[in-house]
Amino acid sequence: MTKKQDQDFASLERDGWADADTAQHYASVFAKAAEQCVPELLKQARIAPGAQVLDACCGHGIVAEGLVAAGARVTALDFSKAMLDLAGARAPKATLVHGDAMALPFETGQFSAVTNGFGFPHIPEPPKALAEARRVLRTGGRLSYSVWQGEGAQSTMAYVFGAIGEHGDPSVQLPPGPGPHDYCIPDIALPALAAAGFGDVEMHIVASEWQIAAPDVPVDIFRDGTVRGAAMLCAQPAKNMVAIRRAVIDKVLGAHGNSGPWIVPIPAVIVSATAI
Ligand SMILES: C[S@@+](CC[C@H](N)C(=O)[O-])C[C@H]1O[C@@H](n2cnc3c(N)ncnc32)[C@H](O)[C@@H]1O
Repeated sequence: MTKKQDQDFASLERDGWADADTAQHYASVFAKAAEQCVPELLKQARIAPGAQVLDACCGHGIVAEGLVAAGARVTALDFSKAMLDLAGARAPKATLVHGDAMALPFETGQFSAVTNGFGFPHIPEPPKALAEARRVLRTGGRLSYSVWQGEGAQSTMAYVFGAIGEHGDPSVQLPPGPGPHDYCIPDIALPALAAAGFGDVEMHIVASEWQIAAPDVPVDIFRDGTVRGAAMLCAQPAKNMVAIRRAVIDKVLGAHGNSGPWIVPIPAVIVSATAI
């Protein structure tokens, strides 16, 4: 067992995103799909020029960059210093803050919008982050966040995690934590948003995708540029990795044809709600 297999969910996520190589891989490869979600995330946040906006879980700054371009005064928060270094280069006009989305170091009612691009799947207690987002928003302010679509969606995420489920070593498991798609599932998200003090909820799907030059590239994207994917893939014995790679190749060729480059889907849901 590797060290990652011994960690609890919170420290797995914290240590994983602190790693400069993971941050760089996420920014340069995985986030090609996340970038396609920024326009809808900003639209649903209903940003007015001059608005004070918090971008929580800012990562390498793609949402903060879009908010600055929309004329907002942006505070961007992340618990990974490696990510904040990248965000500083991408969104130099944003104020960068090192902190935790579950315990925001800001005044009550300070912001008129809070955005969170793909942060919720990594937060050990999402209701705490929702409550904190509500606390720092003024009444009438808007929360807008993105989550990769799960059940029922054709997604490269399902190709990779399905292959791990079918061919991975069963002793390689993630620590207990929230599901990666939980906060775009209406039965989970709607009551949690209501309990935190949000109403007027909307959900919009973005058909984001990657272009890949070889059909097993998704394995590398998840191994090198994510935390859960790295924990599940780096700990596999060699023979299981061969089988996982083969299964992903079969899924890509079966769904998208034999000749590349391939356009593979990784759709997202943008969830937005008003602080009431
Ligand atoms: C998948 S990346 C998303 C980055 C960027 N927002 C985007 O849309 O591409 C998730 C980010 O959330 C940050 N993160 C995860 N849990 C966090 C927490 N509890 N508090 C602050 N940042 C957190 C990670 O460090 C990472 O930068």
